[in-house]
Amino acid sequence: MQVDIVATTAGGQGVAVVDGRRVPVPGALEGERVEIALGTDRRGRTSARVTRVVAASPGRADPACDQAARCPGCPLRHCTPEAALDLKRARVERRLAGPVTVLPAPPRDGFRARAVARALRGTDGALVLGMDAPEAPVDLTRCPAQDPAVNALLSQARRDLADWAPFDPATGEGLLRHVVVQVGDGGARVVVGVARPVDPASLAGVVPGATLLVEVIPPGRFDVLARPELVRGEATLWLAAGGDRFRATLPAWTPQSPGSLDALRAEVTGALSGAAHVVEVGCGVGTLSLPLARVCGALTGVDEVRQAVADAEANAAAAGVTNATFRVGRADHALRRLAQRGLRPDAALLHAMRRPFGDAAMGALSALGPSRVVYVAPSPRSLADDLAALSRYVVDRLALLDQMPGTAHVTVIAHLRRR
Ligand SMILES: C[S@@+](CC[C@H](N)C(=O)[O-])C[C@H]1O[C@@H](n2cnc3c(N)ncnc32)[C@H](O)[C@@H]1O
Repeated sequence: MQVDIVATTAGGQGVAVVDGRRVPVPGALEGERVEIALGTDRRGRTSARVTRVVAASPGRADPACDQAARCPGCPLRHCTPEAALDLKRARVERRLAGPVTVLPAPPRDGFRARAVARALRGTDGALVLGMDAPEAPVDLTRCPAQDPAVNALLSQARRDLADWAPFDPATGEGLLRHVVVQVGDGGARVVVGVARPVDPASLAGVVPGATLLVEVIPPGRFDVLARPELVRGEATLWLAAGGDRFRATLPAWTPQSPGSLDALRAEVTGALSGAAHVVEVGCGVGTLSLPLARVCGALTGVDEVRQAVADAEANAAAAGVTNATFRVGRADHALRRLAQRGLRPDAALLHAMRRPFGDAAMGALSALGPSRVVYVAPSPRSLADDLAALSRYVVDRLALLDQMPGTAHVTVIAHLRRR
């Protein structure tokens, strides 16, 4: 069946109208005419697969990945960089009124320093470390978006764990849930996720050269990287950015796309340079704190993850940054406590996860009253939610950083000014 692609979903899929219903068509671009095969997804909804592109959009590019058509990880790999950015920019502009400046992004290939791979069975019954997808799992050991060192480690892990039965959430049988691989500056770590506790000795032969952690995630839970335990090697991984070196110890958060950090650091320091006192919410291990502290009078970093704060303190000390202090705390509590202690920062940096910080945190920020705020958001929707609670601020600039080319992810940096 041939269809015209009439729209694009927020996740980057084309949309066709079939029998009066809108059907997502992965791998198709708005304005294209494509031939599709219809099927049904696991939830019983109509799904479509492109079997031939009849009339291609000028925004179409060779995905250069033989798994791209099935892979849920990179829904925009078939777009030119310009077309992908246009889609992301339009999405941000729909969600947040105002023009959007696009910052330089890393290349489409090799940018991911971390892979989170599920343990699955391939069609031949062998272990696959990858992502669940229609017809067959996607094999992440040969993902072109990942750093080749990540792929090599994941391949090694698959060989070493070949006899382990993948955990099946439907039956609760099997043991191996996932493998997470991350490469850093001169080192790597591998986290083996299991459904039940295992004897650490049974992991002795798994990726011998890398730091190894094990993480028990019981059936019904999905919180990857929350409670990993060290089996072998150094607990910390080192990351490099802009001339700084950062130690990062799980469960502290670390950026997945180190190649995008220079642009992010420049955007943040450019906006807040010269502030007397910056409060930074979501400081992590200090990736943005150190460059920011160097261009400000003082910095107070806050993060709810104790280990991240310990790493940020160590990283600041090692870098000779003496005007930064770090506290463990949730955004709303920490901001209220700063106000109670009479601190009045003139600038704030917020770096969110995918969920919004929430109304309580935004209320506490407004009460603290910094004149300048930079909000780094991996979700335009969450950013819009938090901005709605910041009525005392106006948006001066919206910048888009494509930290994850080929995916539907987008990072938005909003610069706010107090009215
Ligand atoms: C996207 S990471 C950014 C970390 C750091 N700025 C960086 O660039 O490496 C967001 C951080 O915010 C922290 N975080 C998320 N929600 C929080 C909250 N409500 N209160 C305090 N910290 C929070 C997380 O623990 C995480 O370290």
